[in-house]
Amino acid sequence: MKSVLEIENLHQIFEEGTVNENHVLKGVDLTINPGEFITIIGGNGAGKSTLLNSIAGALPTKIGKIRLNNKDITKQSIIKRAKSISRVFQDPKLGTAVRLTVEENLALALKRGQNRGFGLAVKFSNRPFFKEQLKTLNLGLEKRLTTEVGLLSGGQRQAITLLMATLQRPDLILLDEHTAALDPKTSKTVMDLTEKLIFDQQLTAFMVTHDMENALQYGTRLIMLHQGRIVVDIPAEKKKNLTINQLMDLFQQSSGDELKDDQLLLNT
Ligand SMILES: Nc1ncnc2c1ncn2[C@@H]1O[C@H](COP(=O)(O)OP(=O)(O)O)[C@@H](O)[C@H]1O
Ligand SMILES: [Mg+2]
Repeated sequence: MKSVLEIENLHQIFEEGTVNENHVLKGVDLTINPGEFITIIGGNGAGKSTLLNSIAGALPTKIGKIRLNNKDITKQSIIKRAKSISRVFQDPKLGTAVRLTVEENLALALKRGQNRGFGLAVKFSNRPFFKEQLKTLNLGLEKRLTTEVGLLSGGQRQAITLLMATLQRPDLILLDEHTAALDPKTSKTVMDLTEKLIFDQQLTAFMVTHDMENALQYGTRLIMLHQGRIVVDIPAEKKKNLTINQLMDLFQQSSGDELKDDQLLLNT
């Protein structure tokens, strides 16, 4: 099977050669196959965002290789990668343009990877499509096409961001704790929506969460990152019936470390 993403011996070292040198990723090897929905957990500072930033090209990679659809993209710019890799962040403000309306934001998403220029006008002919897409979110947003996004709630904005990130069927979608800033109920709504969008379109996804329950409940494969290394990698069949306690045991066995309460949201 052709893989979507292949990471080979990826290292990231910040402020190399100074007293503040921080060796964050320490030789990450990872292959992501088409249709996989991987959840990744790990304590604060484990290197999760750094890994996603490296994949997206937001950080240059000096040591290691990254291949997308069997093509070496290690040196490719973030803009070029954005045609195939979309991202959703924790902060709802980062995903949408506040001063633009819902439909203007969606029109921008349709232009992803193209020169956006000044042609912001929404094509009249796109409206039925946008409405239909917004309807799938089940949040009544199809009635708010001309509402400025800044007037919507954080959850509504994350839902629109997700729609924008998937509108052009990316090869890979990266989600970095995209529900962490939401209240528990809204977080669940957005998480369920994420799952639906990913499965309906059979997308390949890589999702960071610090919530163990989310990591177990969602996705088809689970990875734990600890001090810059992948210490646990659980495939679909094993993940299905896995409990939090079993996961903590697996973590301890392979990292030799105790999981501290403050490192992850355990919800127990
Ligand atoms: N651009 C950067 N420059 C310098 N240090 C960074 C940068 N990004 C992350 N770090 C450091 O790398 C470590 C891992 O950060 P991060 O990948 O954000 O962790 P996580 O997302 O797992 O909480 C932290 O010590 C952080 O301070
Ligand atoms: Mg992070």
